[in-house]
Amino acid sequence: MNFNITLLPGDGIGPEVVAEAVRVLESIANRYSHTFNFSEGLIGGCSIDKCGSSLTDETLADCKAADAVLLGAVGGPKWDDPSAEDRPERGLLALRKGLGVFANLRPVKVHPALIDSSPLKPEKLKGVDIMVVRELTGGLYFGWPKGRDIKDGRERAVDTLEYYDYEVKRVMELAFRLAKGRKKKVSSVDKANVLESSRLWRQIATQAGKENPDVELEHVLVDTASMRLITAPASFDVIVTENMFGDILTDEASVLAGSMGMLPSASLSESTVGLYEPIHGSAPDIAGKGIANPIGTILSSAMMLRHSFNLEAEAAAIEKAVDFVITDGCRTVDIGGKLRTRQMADEIIKVL
Ligand code: IPM
Ligand code: MG
Repeated sequence: MNFNITLLPGDGIGPEVVAEAVRVLESIANRYSHTFNFSEGLIGGCSIDKCGSSLTDETLADCKAADAVLLGAVGGPKWDDPSAEDRPERGLLALRKGLGVFANLRPVKVHPALIDSSPLKPEKLKGVDIMVVRELTGGLYFGWPKGRDIKDGRERAVDTLEYYDYEVKRVMELAFRLAKGRKKKVSSVDKANVLESSRLWRQIATQAGKENPDVELEHVLVDTASMRLITAPASFDVIVTENMFGDILTDEASVLAGSMGMLPSASLSESTVGLYEPIHGSAPDIAGKGIANPIGTILSSAMMLRHSFNLEAEAAAIEKAVDFVITDGCRTVDIGGKLRTRQMADEIIKVL
């Protein structure tokens, strides 16, 4: 089959890790007789530098026309000026909103061979297999009003946590659907003891729970959830939560897996077009050194094959290859080894 993939390598280590995922995808294309047509665009700081905007209309149009988008990372100290009009992160948020990718899937699994890379006690990590479903196009990141002004002679800043019922409903339905193919448990994370938006969230979660009696539903307050992620991570199956809660909880959850460099994500819309990116950032401290862990991006490309192209066997082949090389002892610097970005990808391609 034939698929069009837009690559947005972005900033920092983004281009290094995306290049390796492309090599893995090319190897899959060969083995399974598919054609992946790659086109490349700019996003983030590099786009500000070249085009004067963190996301141009042209790049967004390219992404919308593609079958899927694979993104590296955005941001870096060069573009960190808080008073700047445009920021790399704005481009990423505009892309997510523009593509309508409302559900961000962040699987967190602990590979048995990496248990020692995590600061947690090994017995806590046994059986950890969590799917975090982070709402991605609403909530605190996008609510209106938002901005700065002077009120009563004081400088003021405002962000708004806003949700419409349909926004919660669609992400909740997806979470329940995913749970059915897993351990049939949904933990809906909110702050319903304080926030009105969370009370709407909980109401809709409860309704979805009634409609899906085969799935166990629990409501967990976000502060409790952050604690339980460390004290009893294996007690979670699917976690579904608001945009910013999900941002924070997934960085926390990445500690379980030993390194942020290991973790992929898929951002899904109502159509099959999806956005795929590792959960790590641009890591400016190691950018250009060729030592970043490419696995998060390679596993993101596997999620692309599964969710946007419906190529389950091919996706599973990549995941199996990654499992194999980790079991075999292949390690980049972040997980305590010496392999370079390219060498790690070589090892994965070898066993594909
Ligand atoms: C993430 C990142 C982004 C987010 C930033 C770069 C805007 O932290 O994907 O988790 O907050 O969503
Ligand atoms: Mg984040």
